[in-house]
Amino acid sequence: MLRSAFIALSQNKTLRAFSERSTIGRRLSGRFVAGMSVEEALAACERINREGIAASLDSLGESVTTEAEARSSAAVYHRVLDDIGARKLDANVSIKLSQTGMDFDPELAERIVAEIVEHAARTHSFVRIDMEGSPYTEATIEITERLAARYPGSVGTVLQAYLFRTESDTERLLEQGIRIRLCKGAYKEGPAIAFAAKSDVDANYVKIMKRMVSFSNKGKGVFCGMATHDEAIIDQMRAFVRTNSIDKRAFEFQMLYGIRRDLQRRLVAEGFGVRVYIPFGPEWYPYFMRRLAERPANVLFLAKNFFKN
Ligand code: FDA
Repeated sequence: MLRSAFIALSQNKTLRAFSERSTIGRRLSGRFVAGMSVEEALAACERINREGIAASLDSLGESVTTEAEARSSAAVYHRVLDDIGARKLDANVSIKLSQTGMDFDPELAERIVAEIVEHAARTHSFVRIDMEGSPYTEATIEITERLAARYPGSVGTVLQAYLFRTESDTERLLEQGIRIRLCKGAYKEGPAIAFAAKSDVDANYVKIMKRMVSFSNKGKGVFCGMATHDEAIIDQMRAFVRTNSIDKRAFEFQMLYGIRRDLQRRLVAEGFGVRVYIPFGPEWYPYFMRRLAERPANVLFLAKNFFKN
């Protein structure tokens, strides 16, 4: 119930406008957001890289309503890709289609993302198209497929273990050699299309994760990202890799900035690849509320720290 309440709050425009402008809101968001500026995000990326951890930079923003807003989101990504190259960072970028105009002009959104992917291909980087709520699922996959055909190896997307369709989408993308990030799913979806019980989502996650690292086409696998902080799932992957002699570098674990730093470091020490998703920018509110939805105990944690400081 709390999860649904936070997800509903994440879509509240009035609260969003108020929170993003308030000093207290900005301070609280620092728990999960690397800063308001590109410079702060790059500094966080450098710190994380020094620990042997790769990054994916996400310039926060979603549900834009004008071409000018979509173009200004894109401009940040072009700058970040240049900075990644210039500073030789171990990083790529993550982007949302609703940030590039998908809600009012899907062709514009695809053009804008294509330009970013072309930039990434030219600079030997990579673009991950994040997955949003289910109205975007098919379109996100189709756009990724078209772009991957033009820029192989430079673009991938995300699949959510809570959706029934994900098992077959996994096969569809693996067959085309498209890199997938697997996550549990952060939006509110109905029982007609998604597992409701956490145990079913977790079981589906494990099944698909194992399939991803076992897949081979003419002896070639597809490099996928297992995005989770769930230690029980990570333990199952450790055991699976050991039993099946899978190369630890044939995939990577991915986690969110500010969450389970201890586990990130431990996995690196064990020889696994780890990538941290670094969100930044003034439009932090919906992202922040989804993090509270995942773990309402974060509210208490934030409140305690706020008063301590
Ligand atoms: P689960 O929610 O079961 O949590 C397991 C444990 O992890 C918890 O017990 C706690 O210890 C810790 N934990 C989890 N969330 C926490 C939080 N917010 N604060 C503190 N501790 C927390 N979703 C989506 O729909 N589309 C997307 O594109 C992405 N992209 C993405 C990228 C990356 C790198 C990650 C890690 C996650 C995403 N997600 C996402 C979010 C994902 O769907 C999911 O909501 C969260 O990862 C939480 O699920 P867990 O797998 O961590 O498990």
